[in-house]
Amino acid sequence: MTSRASAKRDFLDLSDAGGDTIAAMLSDAQDRKALRSGWPKGQADADAPLAGHVLAMIFEKNSTRTRVSFDMAMRQLGGTALTLDSGTSQLGRGESIADTARVLSRMVDAIMIRTDDHAKIEEMAHYADVPVINGLTDRSHPCQIVADLLTIVEHGKPLPGLELAWFGDGNNVLHSILEAAALMKFNVRIATPAGFEPDQEFVALAHAAGMLVTLTQDPAQAAEGADILVTDTWVSMGQENVENKLGAMAPYQVNSALMARAKSDARFLHCLPAHVGDEVSAEVFESSQSIVFDEAENRIHAQKSVLLWSLGKL
Ligand code: CP
Ligand code: NVA
Repeated sequence: MTSRASAKRDFLDLSDAGGDTIAAMLSDAQDRKALRSGWPKGQADADAPLAGHVLAMIFEKNSTRTRVSFDMAMRQLGGTALTLDSGTSQLGRGESIADTARVLSRMVDAIMIRTDDHAKIEEMAHYADVPVINGLTDRSHPCQIVADLLTIVEHGKPLPGLELAWFGDGNNVLHSILEAAALMKFNVRIATPAGFEPDQEFVALAHAAGMLVTLTQDPAQAAEGADILVTDTWVSMGQENVENKLGAMAPYQVNSALMARAKSDARFLHCLPAHVGDEVSAEVFESSQSIVFDEAENRIHAQKSVLLWSLGKL
């Protein structure tokens, strides 16, 4: 499903927005965040740019951060959000994505969906007349990465020329990081066990943009002189039969020995939820180099910019 119904602003992947727009999102997010500093979290921004707008959020997988951050983002922009779980909506009883998209388009202003197969979100975008936003698929997690970029910039690290190192599973989050690398011009070192590399398509995208992407099975090599170290769960939602995978992942834990190889002011990111003791040691997770809760908070600020762009306000 490649062609889309119109030029509406779907956000299925970071490339749908492009580098200039991502930069504008980061700047807008920082401005809005600063303007509402200290306010009650549910109070609308002074300009309430999405007053009267409703976002439908569809979850075919579990979520804490994505669910709460999009809901709070809509409140802060003056709008509201409603949630459909696959278990309690007709989607769970087999109503098609196409019909769901067409019905929701008559009822709400935008749709955010978390699902498994990326083809489903493409189908949703194809049939919906309103913007569709990717709240995570098996292939990518672009909203997370807008928050990650915001967090990196807030911590004083310019994106162009950044050396970001990834450890563990070559998964959906890494795919969106590689897309971000292509758009925002930073290099990525990837340490994974053999067989768990990211999809070549995303590596090629970063290469084509002139970025250095290093694939290695040696975590120490990837960490050497890095600015940002990132990992994620070794087992993503929906993955099964993982016993062999866990054994292969063990040497890729982000721990103090690995952090010591990075720059002295390096920072640690994790999209959460974390499995402390597996992909990250407790020492690193709780250290002053860990900025994972700033990253989690920034999901709200980043999602606001994504929503504003999708609804033509940015
Ligand atoms: N990082 C993230 O997307 O978290 P949730 O699964 O809780 O939404
Ligand atoms: N890679 C993880 C990210 C969770 C936010 C998953 O897909 O489960």
